[in-house]
Amino acid sequence: MIRIDIISVIPDLMKSFFEFSICKRAQKNNLVEIVLHDLHNFSSKKHRQVDDYPFGGGAGMVLSPEPLSKAINQLQSERTYDEVIFFTPDGETLTQPIANGLANKGNMLFICGHYKGIDERIRQKYITKEISIGDYVLSGGELAAAVTADAIVRLIPGAIGDETSALTDSFQDGLLSAPVYTRPAHFEGIDVPEILLSGHDKKISEWRFEQSLERTKIRRPDLLKNEDPT
Ligand code: 6GU
Repeated sequence: MIRIDIISVIPDLMKSFFEFSICKRAQKNNLVEIVLHDLHNFSSKKHRQVDDYPFGGGAGMVLSPEPLSKAINQLQSERTYDEVIFFTPDGETLTQPIANGLANKGNMLFICGHYKGIDERIRQKYITKEISIGDYVLSGGELAAAVTADAIVRLIPGAIGDETSALTDSFQDGLLSAPVYTRPAHFEGIDVPEILLSGHDKKISEWRFEQSLERTKIRRPDLLKNEDPT
């Protein structure tokens, strides 16, 4: 079973996210355990303070090293982690192959940054991987951690109703998904493509592949350039 521990200054921000949909079912079925930890519980300051002013001055606060190391050390004394991941805009950009790799791990510890970031010595000593979810700035790492956990959980065998569904996702084969339709076959003047009503499985998968390729060419030509030529 995969276990994901998440350390944050606002764990409640992620709480409801993990209580719904696929993440909820995966936890109920013991495919994954997601445990949120409030960094404030590891503070030894009077008002449970976990941040401080940056040395050298400048705007914003920095998460202090002591509560973070206390939290990480306590969790690491309870189990071994395959990865200790820090969520930060200067990390490696999350992609499907990275999510696929993480879905094959056991225990993972996620650290959410906040304010100006975390003391650099924590990154040096404890962090094994740094992940960003794109080139824009969020107020903290919480949403990035939730996004990453969701991308991992839906890959665990049994997490999604239809076993093959995760493998047919956009990006899983390096292409965007083909358009999908459901009933009614005629809606607001537009018909569902005839081929999808034909019952001809082979022709349908050929059509879907062509549509995927066409859509990728138009919307994300960069994905085709990056494709492995072998
Ligand atoms: Cl991981 N953190 C923050 N604060 N902003 C981000 C991000 C992470 N990924 C993209 N933007």
